Amino acid sequence: MSASTGREMRFLSSLLFAYCLCLSFVSSQVTLLPNDTVSVCEGEIQAITCNVTGSVLIWDDGNNSTSFSSGNTIPAELGPFHLVLLSHNNGTVVSVATVNVSTSINESTLECRNTGFKNSSIRQQISFNVKHTIPISYLHVNAVSSDTLLIIWTGADCIQSYDVFINGTNVNTTSGMSLLYNTGGAIGSIDVLVNSVDYYGRAVGNLSTQYQFNTHDFEVKAIVCNNTSIIIAIKDNYINHRPVPLSCKLIVSNLTQSSSSMDCLYERLFIFTNVTEGDVYNYTVTITNVIGSAVKNGSIVLPVQVCPSQAPNFYSTLMMSQQSLCLSDTSTSTSTTTSNRPGGSNCVLPWIFGVVAGTVVVSLFI
Ligand SMILES: *[C@@H]1O[C@H](CO)[C@@H](O)[C@H](O)[C@H]1NC(C)=O
Ligand SMILES: *[C@@H]1O[C@H](CO)[C@@H](O)[C@H](O)[C@H]1NC(C)=O
Ligand SMILES: *[C@@H]1O[C@H](CO)[C@@H](O)[C@H](O)[C@H]1NC(C)=O
Ligand SMILES: *[C@@H]1O[C@H](CO)[C@@H](O)[C@H](O)[C@H]1NC(C)=O
Ligand SMILES: *[C@@H]1O[C@H](CO)[C@@H](O)[C@H](O)[C@H]1NC(C)=O
Ligand SMILES: *[C@@H]1O[C@H](CO)[C@@H](O)[C@H](O)[C@H]1NC(C)=O
Ligand SMILES: *[C@@H]1O[C@H](CO)[C@@H](O)[C@H](O)[C@H]1NC(C)=O
Ligand SMILES: *[C@@H]1O[C@H](CO)[C@@H](O)[C@H](O)[C@H]1NC(C)=O
Ligand SMILES: *[C@@H]1O[C@H](CO)[C@@H](O)[C@H](O)[C@H]1NC(C)=O
Ligand SMILES: *[C@@H]1O[C@H](CO)[C@@H](O)[C@H](O)[C@H]1NC(C)=O
Ligand SMILES: *[C@@H]1O[C@H](CO)[C@@H](O)[C@H](O)[C@H]1NC(C)=O
Ligand SMILES: *[C@@H]1O[C@H](CO)[C@@H](O)[C@H](O)[C@H]1NC(C)=O
Repeated sequence: MSASTGREMRFLSSLLFAYCLCLSFVSSQVTLLPNDTVSVCEGEIQAITCNVTGSVLIWDDGNNSTSFSSGNTIPAELGPFHLVLLSHNNGTVVSVATVNVSTSINESTLECRNTGFKNSSIRQQISFNVKHTIPISYLHVNAVSSDTLLIIWTGADCIQSYDVFINGTNVNTTSGMSLLYNTGGAIGSIDVLVNSVDYYGRAVGNLSTQYQFNTHDFEVKAIVCNNTSIIIAIKDNYINHRPVPLSCKLIVSNLTQSSSSMDCLYERLFIFTNVTEGDVYNYTVTITNVIGSAVKNGSIVLPVQVCPSQAPNFYSTLMMSQQSLCLSDTSTSTSTTTSNRPGGSNCVLPWIFGVVAGTVVVSLFI
């Protein structure tokens, strides 16, 4: 072989090499889905697809690498990744890597390339941020109609599904974070429990609540002050969750117009100054929610003796100039626990009304 042919050959081969290099740069493409940094949950099976235009596909986990081509189609393992070739035709190679996510892959990187030469290759990377399982931390039940409850929960992460139990029976398993439950007409105390299940299928925590699917629970007190005014106070019993009141009506005979009533939905404290000594005033409070109406009534008689000065309380400040309060309670409501003590003073310290005035209005808007 002459020197000139040798030069020609070298020239040709370098030309060919440059052409191939150009070709690979121009036409090759690597698409990794997903790519960049992904947040994944412990126990989740994560699949990563790589699509290479070219004849070879390389997976690299930083320690080792595996390649796929028309001549290399056998599934392989790369650390925790299971690799399979999906297709190799028309100049594209497609492969899927699956991994059973555990903390061992946290912050690790998986790369897909189009050649074995790392530096001259076209490549895409994915790195993993492994999240831990957190069960729900908030559960709320709310009636949306007379036979439907909306159950809502939040605070969870990396939970595969939630088992919802009503009165101990699993009524639904969902990956969502709310459930509309039809009670089928049942009312009363309903136990709601939501169980969080992780990606391994393990129950990792639960939260429960007891919902009082019933009419509103409240008490009414009527207080006579100084023989010149009557206070009507409505106190909600918030021991358990119940459907929110939709309306509240207060009627006091001779003090409110008989045909109309006073709206006590947002205000639970009423002071009537247009009273007449010696009269009997009957009061009725009706609170309605999606289940129905609850009624409490009673009678208040004037006059009532003026009490000696008693312990300071909310009403002392409320009534400002007045030094004492009298309670004349002949309420007929079932919740009444106080009664006039025979022969003695019928002065009874009223409730702690700070709760009534403060909480009631707020809780109505929740
Ligand atoms: C990276 O992933 C996004 C979607 O997560 C996709 O739209 C995009 O094409 C990917 N980029 C590459 C270069 O693979
Ligand atoms: C791979 O990429 C090529 C070109 O971008 C596209 O035509 C083909 O549909 C892709 N295949 C898969 C399985 O994503
Ligand atoms: C790479 O190898 C080192 C040492 O064997 C190991 O600690 C590391 O987890 C490996 N990385 C991957 C991504 O497998
Ligand atoms: C590369 O893979 C081989 C076979 O799976 C394994 O024996 C070796 O430890 C791996 N190297 C690293 C650095 O992880
Ligand atoms: C290859 O591409 C041609 C046209 O681009 C198409 O008709 C043919 O179905 C493709 N083959 C495969 C196996 O995808
Ligand atoms: C994922 O790993 C866990 C623990 O190593 C194992 O119990 C589970 O069966 C694996 N899941 C799958 C789908 O391989
Ligand atoms: C569970 O709840 C979902 C959404 O409310 C509903 O589509 C599905 O039918 C329910 N499944 C059962 C078994 O009740
Ligand atoms: C749940 O049980 C209580 C009694 O324990 C009952 O009053 C209520 O109606 C039940 N609720 C449902 C939806 O079955
Ligand atoms: C309440 O009674 C006291 C004396 O018992 C009297 O001094 C005061 O003026 C009365 N207040 C009103 C508002 O009538
Ligand atoms: C109270 O109302 C009743 C019936 O509406 C009426 O008969 C009575 O006279 C009224 N009393 C006063 C003091 O207004
Ligand atoms: C008595 O007072 C209340 C409010 O203080 C008022 O709504 C009502 O109309 C009054 N009743 C009469 C008969 O004036
Ligand atoms: C008040 O109630 C009593 C008994 O509940 C009743 O006898 C009386 O007529 C009522 N008075 C008014 C004014 O409604």
